[in-house]
Amino acid sequence: MVKKILKVNGVERHVVVNQDALLSDVIRKQLQLTGTKVGCGTGTCGACNVILNGKLVRTCVTRMKRVENWSEITTVEGIGTPQNLHPIQKAIIKHGALQCGFCTPGFVVSIKALLDVNPNPDRQDVRDWFTKYKNACRCVGYMSLVDAAMDAAKVLRGDMDESVLEYKDISNGSLYGTRYPRPTSVAKVCGLWDFGADKREQLPEGTLFCSLVYADVAHANINGVDTSEAEKMPGVVKIVTAKDIQGKNRITGLITFPTNKGDGWERPILCDKKVFQYGDAIAIVCAQTQAQADEAAKAVKLDLEVLPHYMNAMAAIAEDAIEIHPGTPNLYFTQGLKKGEETAPIMEKAAHVVEGEYYLGRQPQMPLESDIGFAYTNEDGKVVVCSKSIAIQLHVAMIAPGLGLDPENLVVVQNPCGSSFGYKFCPSNEALVAAATMATGVPCYLEYSWAQLQFYTGKRSPFWFKAKLAADENGKFLATETEWYVDHGPYSEFGDLLTIRGMQYAFAGYDIANMRGEGHTVATNHCWGAPFRAYGSPQSFFASESLIDELAKKMGKDPFELRELNCYREGATTPTQQTPEVFVFPKQFEALRPKYERAKQLAEMNSTETKKRGVGVSLGIYGCGLDGPDTSEAWAELLPNNEVMIGNSWQDHGQGADIGTLTFAHETLKPLGLKPEQINLCMNDSSMTPNSGPSGGSRHNLVTGNAIRVACEMLLEGMKKADGSYRSYDEMQTDGIDTKYLGKWTTPCTDCDVETGAGDPFCVYMYGLFLSEVEVDITTGKTKVIKMTHVADVGTITNQLAVDGQIYGGLAQGIGLALTEDFEHIQKHSNMIGAGFPFCNDITDDLEIIYVCEPREHGAFGAGGVGELPLTAPHCAIINAIDDACGARIRHLPAYPEKVLAALNSKKKAFDVADAIALGYTSDAVDSVPPKPEDVINALAEMETEKV
Ligand code: FES
Ligand code: FES
Repeated sequence: MVKKILKVNGVERHVVVNQDALLSDVIRKQLQLTGTKVGCGTGTCGACNVILNGKLVRTCVTRMKRVENWSEITTVEGIGTPQNLHPIQKAIIKHGALQCGFCTPGFVVSIKALLDVNPNPDRQDVRDWFTKYKNACRCVGYMSLVDAAMDAAKVLRGDMDESVLEYKDISNGSLYGTRYPRPTSVAKVCGLWDFGADKREQLPEGTLFCSLVYADVAHANINGVDTSEAEKMPGVVKIVTAKDIQGKNRITGLITFPTNKGDGWERPILCDKKVFQYGDAIAIVCAQTQAQADEAAKAVKLDLEVLPHYMNAMAAIAEDAIEIHPGTPNLYFTQGLKKGEETAPIMEKAAHVVEGEYYLGRQPQMPLESDIGFAYTNEDGKVVVCSKSIAIQLHVAMIAPGLGLDPENLVVVQNPCGSSFGYKFCPSNEALVAAATMATGVPCYLEYSWAQLQFYTGKRSPFWFKAKLAADENGKFLATETEWYVDHGPYSEFGDLLTIRGMQYAFAGYDIANMRGEGHTVATNHCWGAPFRAYGSPQSFFASESLIDELAKKMGKDPFELRELNCYREGATTPTQQTPEVFVFPKQFEALRPKYERAKQLAEMNSTETKKRGVGVSLGIYGCGLDGPDTSEAWAELLPNNEVMIGNSWQDHGQGADIGTLTFAHETLKPLGLKPEQINLCMNDSSMTPNSGPSGGSRHNLVTGNAIRVACEMLLEGMKKADGSYRSYDEMQTDGIDTKYLGKWTTPCTDCDVETGAGDPFCVYMYGLFLSEVEVDITTGKTKVIKMTHVADVGTITNQLAVDGQIYGGLAQGIGLALTEDFEHIQKHSNMIGAGFPFCNDITDDLEIIYVCEPREHGAFGAGGVGELPLTAPHCAIINAIDDACGARIRHLPAYPEKVLAALNSKKKAFDVADAIALGYTSDAVDSVPPKPEDVINALAEMETEKV
């Protein structure tokens, strides 16, 4: 141990540290400055940035031996405070350059370090800086962060007045549709928004730290678990195994489809008889410190009998494959599609027929914050789980029976969540921390490493999609035939629902009278399928939007014209035979046409011998809500000080539940003349807030927005006097009128038929077009996206900053999906770099949004949703643009440079699913374990040494 004297944020601090301790730990735990976040923990995300002696460093890979006495350290807390925000913080808020806020302190510090050395950067300087220092953001798409840095620089140079960065109310007191910042912004830019790991520092003494003993094979029988050595190790209090679980020891997938051959009870909380995928938890070591728990976890001995493992759908349905869940076939659900006449005769006679096979893989959500949760027993004897859950009431229902708890005795609370993009729709650590707490009787804390987050939480499910399209001599679409296989991993949670998306979205957007199709859900031993933004639509559109371009090419027709010719107009119906609620596409094509034509000209002008430019178009649609009738609840309460409290379970994973709730309430309560700060929010605690349903499918803005509206209207009704004025709280009390009202709203929808797909599953859809401009280096196969343009219809815009931010972030994820992101190979893809996480220079600085919107009859104040739309089909436009640039048709994502080269080099100028399998892009084996986090830390620490 050594004593270090440090100057932290201008104040002298003395700490006694181990020389090998990480600077991030010293800052967070010893100095209690938790504004410095730790995401990846391996030097690749920048969340832990501080300025050390004038240089930007990543503290998670900086050992204390490299930090000299009297070192000067600036953390986010030293840059600005809520009462005295720094221009950088104000600029981030003004530009909406924050969503979940987990990366935000790291960016504040990074921009400060940049402007200290370069007060007058240009945009590329800022982008190079973010890229060099690995400042990662998964939510906002970088462009707004660059805008913020540029504005902050102007203010600091004296070229712009600081007041320009502040919100000005120019809308007559209404928040609706404005750029009013989200209420949590100030806490986020100051590092004061406490995420799960920050809350760990606030947990009571006696809290135990957990480490999972997990399988390093994908499929095995468990012959024995020997905990005897581990139990004797220092600090170990308890090793929880399956026999300690008091209930069914299963998480239920809540199967609702009667034709599903599984029962939804196949996911163990702790594996007892079998392991079904890599990373499956077998035991939980609970110890006094994290280090003790981690050490003891390594000493637990597993006796596993390895079984054949099936890492994709085709392998799992092969004739000789054994059942992954004995008694349930690996192919366990089938969804049909029958619309109009039989298609075979139409295909036979049609002037043009094209067909293709497409694969979109296991895109990882990659939030910066890992999966973190803790649990305790409250004074009423209820088990309380605090996690990143985006489905708090649903998770109670899914995990209570497995734990042996009456749902009444289980509470789920959402911690501030460093984004999720859908993976937390499925429970991950919730049942594990609850089981640990129930077995030990004390609070328990469980934090996954980032690698563990990657291999042991759900991912986007790959679809193998075969599609066939017939058109007449003019290009009018006549019929489609489709077949798709969904690789859902070993656990069925919502797998049937996902399979339905293939039927709902392949060829959606076009007036096609005759459709036949069949989709299948398949159990495999790869990582289980969980929702990911746009849920099933990217897989489906990848097939249909690629094939439409292939048809255009075959016919010698412009792909833009072909789409416009066939898009929804009055009289058209969706694949589920529903009449769209608006017909906005013709206007959207009109708005995009000049951009498309200009892009084509630019592509031609700027193509060179080796760098080919191309332009691609695609169309995307997504329905807001859960299929069929979908209900949400919210309450509104008048408080004794005449302010209002809104209660709901609109879980926030960065999309802006806070600003959404505030805006709907403020708009409805306008007659009361309340200021935004007089509307208080009580959110996301299943013991206090009503069931608003999960945060997925862009549903809350529509469904919960309406529930808030209804609750506020009921409150106004109760407050209204005969003369039209409103009662105060005291007057309500005197008159004996309730001050709290529960609002409820249900979508007027019907479920889809399992044989034909017919139904009205959503009452509001989002509609959009994508235009991508790319440059392909044909010597390397590398693709660069030059510009993305998105025409969006989201109904009315509830909050401009939040909607813009959702679209920029979604487009960035679309670029990643098209070109780099993957979780196929467990070893290579369990870190951010290996999994193709896009950094600033990977995302174009030219993202343009054109809003062509129609107000929605069923939306609160006309609003639909937004979150899913920008990720429905941007990747299709990029892949179409690659083909346009150089004739390389990629049918297996992502379009790695070597795949583009392979397509260019092959005579057929295509890279299809069979080529991809032959080259090993679709695995049938678990290769080996991911690198240990500590090895990566050590390697990176050495690199960091040279910099400090
Ligand atoms: S937490 Fe340090 S770089 Fe990611
Ligand atoms: S706001 Fe950047 S990671 Fe969420």
